Amino acid sequence: MGQNKLSGDIYYPSKEVIAKANVKDWDELSEKAKKDYPGFWEERASELHWFQKWNKVIDDSNKPFYKWFTGGKTNIAYNCLDVHAKTHRRNKLALLWEGENGEFRAMSYYSLHRETCKFANVLRSMGVKKGDRVTIYMGRTPEIVMAMLACARIGAVHSVVYGGFSVEALHERIEDSQSKVLIVSDGAYQRGKIVPLKEIADEALKRAGGIEHVLVVKRTGQEINMEVGRDMWLHELMALPIANQDYTVEVMDAEDPLFLLYTSGTTGKPKAILHTHGGYMVGTYTTLKYVFDIHEEDRFWCAADPGWITGHSYIVYGPLLNGATSFMYEGAPTHPYPNRWWQMIEKYGLNILYTAPTAIRGLMRFGDAWVNRHDLSSLRLLGSVGEPINPEAWKWYYKVVGKEKCPIMDTWWQTETGMFMITPMPSVPLKPGSGTKPFPGIEMDILDENGTPVADNEEGFLVIKTPWPAMIRTIYGDDDRYVEQYWSKYPGMYLTGDSARRDEDGYFWVIGRVDDVIKVSGYRLGTAEIESALVSHVSVAEAAAIGLPHEIKGNAIYAYVILKAGSQPSEELKDELRLHVGHEVGPIAKPEKIEFVESLPKTRSGKIMRRVLKAKELGVDPGNLSTLEE
Ligand code: PRX
Repeated sequence: MGQNKLSGDIYYPSKEVIAKANVKDWDELSEKAKKDYPGFWEERASELHWFQKWNKVIDDSNKPFYKWFTGGKTNIAYNCLDVHAKTHRRNKLALLWEGENGEFRAMSYYSLHRETCKFANVLRSMGVKKGDRVTIYMGRTPEIVMAMLACARIGAVHSVVYGGFSVEALHERIEDSQSKVLIVSDGAYQRGKIVPLKEIADEALKRAGGIEHVLVVKRTGQEINMEVGRDMWLHELMALPIANQDYTVEVMDAEDPLFLLYTSGTTGKPKAILHTHGGYMVGTYTTLKYVFDIHEEDRFWCAADPGWITGHSYIVYGPLLNGATSFMYEGAPTHPYPNRWWQMIEKYGLNILYTAPTAIRGLMRFGDAWVNRHDLSSLRLLGSVGEPINPEAWKWYYKVVGKEKCPIMDTWWQTETGMFMITPMPSVPLKPGSGTKPFPGIEMDILDENGTPVADNEEGFLVIKTPWPAMIRTIYGDDDRYVEQYWSKYPGMYLTGDSARRDEDGYFWVIGRVDDVIKVSGYRLGTAEIESALVSHVSVAEAAAIGLPHEIKGNAIYAYVILKAGSQPSEELKDELRLHVGHEVGPIAKPEKIEFVESLPKTRSGKIMRRVLKAKELGVDPGNLSTLEE
């Protein structure tokens, strides 16, 4: 990138960082990829193992249902484990884990491979076959990684539900995916308490049909209900000879489904984003290698949860495909004290930390002293994801955590993209708050309502103009919604749902969602989910939810509720409603504020005009009100 011509607040990488970088000249790589992006991805794919080579890199004969590496045969779990277990990496640590209660586990590629094979055999013995869906609802322990890889290994499609979700959210996802098997832990440690995952699952299963077997992982050890004939302990089955029988792997077509991951969209229920073995593998492998500059000796820590795409791509698949050591921590960053993260970085000599702005802001609040007590000299790179990072948090992260020597990789991407899309690499000059430019081989733009690219520094709709290997293949069971939601506003282009601007240096600045998605502490929630949880309460007739700026969480949920006739507004009822949303969707969805109202602003066709509510709270002009009902 033309280093001398950039405008604004620029942070240049050091000579040491550039000397080590896998990609030294990003411009050159981008130029090369631009000329022939299928060729660029084909070269990357060649670095992985295929049982049979593809005959076409991209098949775009049925747009927007793109296919990648068609004819190719592979298995992502084989590339994550078997490949390394056969080489010099056999005894290298694949997974390093610390529990919130201080427990510690380290698994080599050899042992993670062996345990995963056994896990896969347990699933096989329960009748799970290629193509079957398996729901996983667990805390952050090594078993969640094994569970995902075991599914992939036998060709089953995993659907991980974040352990912070609750009864109705889990029920909906089990039902929509038609899963036969649920893998759940008895509980998870969070902030010194036990989250009773099995108990929540039991309640969800009372509402959902279809689950034949529940495989229970022992973590917290409290007394739980085990339903005879349905529920089985993983450790008991893993001890049976059948678990050890056969370590074969299912040969998968590049386009065979790998996982479903539910995420919130603009309307209605959460939708299942479908990713496949081949393209997702190539995308996550390449982006992690280039952006977080993975080297043989690296210990990489992605502090997300495996229940979200960040954890799928960059705790599990990306690091293992690269043969790196992936670190995972079970609990809360501030337990028992706000130095927990810094303590672990020092203790394990972690080299790369990848987290979310909300966590950075949350830790920044406790001051520098907690960080400065620890030797963080092992850190080489930092990362950010999930929402725009404010320059103040960026600078604190850079100075206090990274000691002004670790570039920050601000990666913009989505559940749907599967991999980083707008992101720097270590050798790129940074501007706090900008993810810099699209990854090589990816073309993106910012358009106005009519599809014309906006001028520099003007805000518009962020779109992706080239297909990419880890792209969403469809919304599971709803091809029409896939086309409608992502490809219909601007034909031939993928609509991200975000607004952005581009500065005079070509740097992208993502502003935020332009639809009814609210990012709370980096978690993605739909207004519809919160509203339907509220309406499921006996006292509520109608509800509207919006996101308003919040210092730590990025956005906080505000809810407006119309009560049913006969229900009386009270502070107690507000508390009850907050708890109800927590019980149905999960603690992250609890509204910050609830207001009882007599009516809601609606269009003549009955749609709630959330922007009017938002404008009123913020004391700004609500804009065009011509469609308002009254
Ligand atoms: O609004 C963007 C925001 O997160 C959305 C995607 O959310 P999700 O599918 O849950 O995936 C999050 C983790 C990949 C985007 O549409 N977002 C994600 N990363 C950034 C971001 N906004 C600004 N800067 C980022 N680095």
